[in-house]
Amino acid sequence: MTILVTGGAGYIGSHTCLELLNAGYQVVVVDNLCNSDMESLKRVEQLTGKSITMYQFDARDEKQLESVFSNHNIACVIHFAGLKAVGESVSIPLTYYHNNLVSTMALCKVMKKYNVSNFIFSSSATVYAQDNEMPLHEGGHLGCTNPYGWTKLMGEQILKDISLADPAFSVVLLRYFNPIGAHQSGMIGEDPSGIPNNLLPYITQTALGRLERLTVHGNDYDTKDGTGVRDYIHVVDLARGHLKAVEYATKHQGCEAINLGTGVGYSVLDIIHAFEKENDVQVPYVIGPRRPGDIGSVYADPRKALDLLGWEAKLGIADMCRDAWNWQKQNPRGYRE
Ligand code: NAD
Ligand code: UFG
Repeated sequence: MTILVTGGAGYIGSHTCLELLNAGYQVVVVDNLCNSDMESLKRVEQLTGKSITMYQFDARDEKQLESVFSNHNIACVIHFAGLKAVGESVSIPLTYYHNNLVSTMALCKVMKKYNVSNFIFSSSATVYAQDNEMPLHEGGHLGCTNPYGWTKLMGEQILKDISLADPAFSVVLLRYFNPIGAHQSGMIGEDPSGIPNNLLPYITQTALGRLERLTVHGNDYDTKDGTGVRDYIHVVDLARGHLKAVEYATKHQGCEAINLGTGVGYSVLDIIHAFEKENDVQVPYVIGPRRPGDIGSVYADPRKALDLLGWEAKLGIADMCRDAWNWQKQNPRGYRE
């Protein structure tokens, strides 16, 4: 069975390509490499001993998408391609709306033409409104506070409407919580450009000495130690969730939103301490003010993923910290070495 993976050279995409190949799927990638490097896919090929067909172009380009669909017998599309920096989306909203929404619509249009009806969408816990009780379940209130989040919520709505109009169109909207870690080989991992915004790459680069110290964004939240609590999920667990979603989509119709999280929340200090303990390294930090837009706690109710997909996270926080560090140590400058 052939799976089209858009954004397959990126962080989550590369880990998913690896799991797909190991499970016996054929993988076709479309990626314009605007936030990634071909090297990730070369390493996936090395790790699996299997090859990937890679097309480098923008997923908004319907003509080029058509040629991919006519060259390959695609059974399912996993759509990772998208821009994902929350802060940047506030500065250049049109770029975000255009990239993330037009790519989704172009794919749907071409899928319809080629009778491909299974779609897995990279959504995010950011689609939940801030007034929900924790843990977040899929029926919670939806609403966003930044353009990036809106691109995900609007993407969900577009796909839901398409599946309502065409009952053969099967969609799984995967709402990721906080993916961290790397493949245990240390050969593929997260490779942010510039100074990282997210906690784990900031920690690994601080431990390495590339950054002087981590700033903990606030210690006055209503959490056990005052620092922000999130549902961190190992990227390999997340990747495996996509395989379960592909199986589900090919056997069911309609549109389902499903959380991919562990159900466990860890604070920023928990993560720093776990990272230091697991890897026997120091992460110098200072406490700073809250980061605008952050909330105290975000964690998933993961039961729907278990009920519908038969998936649950298997790897724990020690695995996540170990694998993130293993990747960073082996690739101090990411794929740009
Ligand atoms: P990433 O930036 O590493 O990967 C995205 C990939 O898409 C990159 O390889 C990039 O080059 C490619 N891309 C972007 N726009 C494209 C376009 N128009 N055409 C072709 N390729 C394009 O990001 P990631 O962390 O792997 O995230 C994958 C998806 O998951 C994204 O849609 C993101 O919004 C979503 N998501 C990520 C997180 C997270 O914390 N990493 C959380 C929730 C949701
Ligand atoms: N944090 C720090 N210092 C840092 C970076 C982060 O203290 O230098 C804290 C944050 O305040 C937060 C926690 O670490 O409490 C996690 O922050 P991240 O930036 O790693 O992740 P977020 O939860 O803010 O956001 C992530 C993705 C979003 C996605 C969201 C889904 O970046 O794209 O998860 O829940 F929408």
